[in-house]
Amino acid sequence: MQEKALLELRHISKQYPGVLALNDVSVNFKKNEVHGLIGENGAGKSTLIKVLSGAITPDRGEIILDGNTYTGMTPYLAQNLGIAVIYQEFNLLPSLSVAENVFIGNMHGNRLFIDRRKCEEKTAEIFKRMCININPRTPVRELSVAYKQMVEIAKALSKNVRLLIMDEPTAPLTTNETEILFDIVRGLKKEGVTVIFITHRLVEVFAVTDRVTVMRDGAMVREAATGEISRDELIKAMVGRQINDTYPKRDCPLGKPVLEVTELHGKGVKGINFTVHEGEILGFAGLVGAGRTETMRFLFGADKKKSGVVKLNGAEIHIRTPKDSVALGIGLIPEDRKQHGVVLGFPIRWNISLTVLKLISRFSFLNMLKEKKISEKLSASLDIKTPGIMQLTRNLSGGNQQKVVLAKWLAANCRILIFDEPTRGIDVGARYEIYKLMNNLCAQKKAIIMVSSDMEELLGMSDRIIVLCEGRQTGALTKESFSQETILKLASGQI
Ligand SMILES: Nc1ncnc2c1ncn2[C@@H]1O[C@H](COP(=O)(O)OP(=O)(O)OP(=O)(O)O)[C@@H](O)[C@H]1O
Ligand SMILES: [Mg+2]
Repeated sequence: MQEKALLELRHISKQYPGVLALNDVSVNFKKNEVHGLIGENGAGKSTLIKVLSGAITPDRGEIILDGNTYTGMTPYLAQNLGIAVIYQEFNLLPSLSVAENVFIGNMHGNRLFIDRRKCEEKTAEIFKRMCININPRTPVRELSVAYKQMVEIAKALSKNVRLLIMDEPTAPLTTNETEILFDIVRGLKKEGVTVIFITHRLVEVFAVTDRVTVMRDGAMVREAATGEISRDELIKAMVGRQINDTYPKRDCPLGKPVLEVTELHGKGVKGINFTVHEGEILGFAGLVGAGRTETMRFLFGADKKKSGVVKLNGAEIHIRTPKDSVALGIGLIPEDRKQHGVVLGFPIRWNISLTVLKLISRFSFLNMLKEKKISEKLSASLDIKTPGIMQLTRNLSGGNQQKVVLAKWLAANCRILIFDEPTRGIDVGARYEIYKLMNNLCAQKKAIIMVSSDMEELLGMSDRIIVLCEGRQTGALTKESFSQETILKLASGQI
């Protein structure tokens, strides 16, 4: 039986200077369905969501809901109609409790008296419905990313949501947490809620969605029942070409040891030991909170370690600040691009050349030209979607901002590059390009450390993998002993 559409979009277009972000998009979302929305970075997914939530007004087109036609939403109208969005950057107030956050702007009681007990009871009820256990009195700041996301979902449920939109909800989650989120999504569907689910991970499309829509360059290019389309077809629809092997082959021999770390201790990290060689990709596996990011920040000088010896080409080095690191040719590409990676108010070109500028000693006309060339070359090779390299980084799509961070560090020409979650939020096509770039770096005898929560990526790209669990090193695996099972066991402290 064909389900009725809950909401329909007809001929929606949105033009930004130099970019047609939405090009005559028509799509419908049915009752009781989880609808996957996929596409390359910059394809227009987030823009479409913003149209639905009333954050932006389209230039043309209509939204049809309950037999009414709207030419645009406002945030207020969207909320009244039961549309809620969970963006990647959560809208929570960290110092307030979970219950206060759930009912913010929507408190029980009257204006003078907020019935805290009632808010807490209601919040507890919603969590019960979601089958999760969070104390409504906990301050939000004490929650992990996964739980913060649950609070966002609870907030939506408290407002009788009919259409729940999630923009890359699984990007910061571990495998386990993703499973919990999937259960919640399936539960919501049973209750009659429509869910729009944006993701770059195709496994998730197949795990949780009923239908899937593919966008490319602002247009809808494919729509299908998830059961009736293959992974390869989806990729082809997204990137417009076939990608056969997800992980490009690399065959360069390992060279001599470049970086040796002995007994590294610091806050959240207890006794880490490893060596990286020329031409090697050393993977770091672990659950969220295992201490991988901390280890890298100590190494890079972004945080102060307690103790430990670090040797570069056999000689001990003392890194106190990130500047020391960069001077020694060590770069860190951070996982949190918004906080540490780029200046959003700068054009792309300035962001890419920030680190290079420090290396180019004098500002001269020639150097400016050189800097422009480097930026243009990297922007093209990473396929950053933008009308030009003077575009403000803020105006780029999430994945393209991530590419700017990568470009910045590639321009710095480091000997050792630490990638923390290099492909989070990056589409399949660009992912492949990044892997190829990593392989090129290896061929130039550079060393790469790669922290990743993407198991396939770790197994596909690393030469060796170090596993951390609760700040301790629980394993060091060579290629022959790689397996998902072993890594998961080591990461959860079972062996
Ligand atoms: N405020 C803006 N000003 C100018 N261009 C913009 C603005 N917002 C978005 N764009 C452009 O619109 C296009 C679509 O961006 P959008 O954020 O919708 O992509 P996306 O599909 O969500 O990508 P990602 O997977 O990287 O998050 C991009 O080319 C982006 O640069
Ligand atoms: Mg987006």
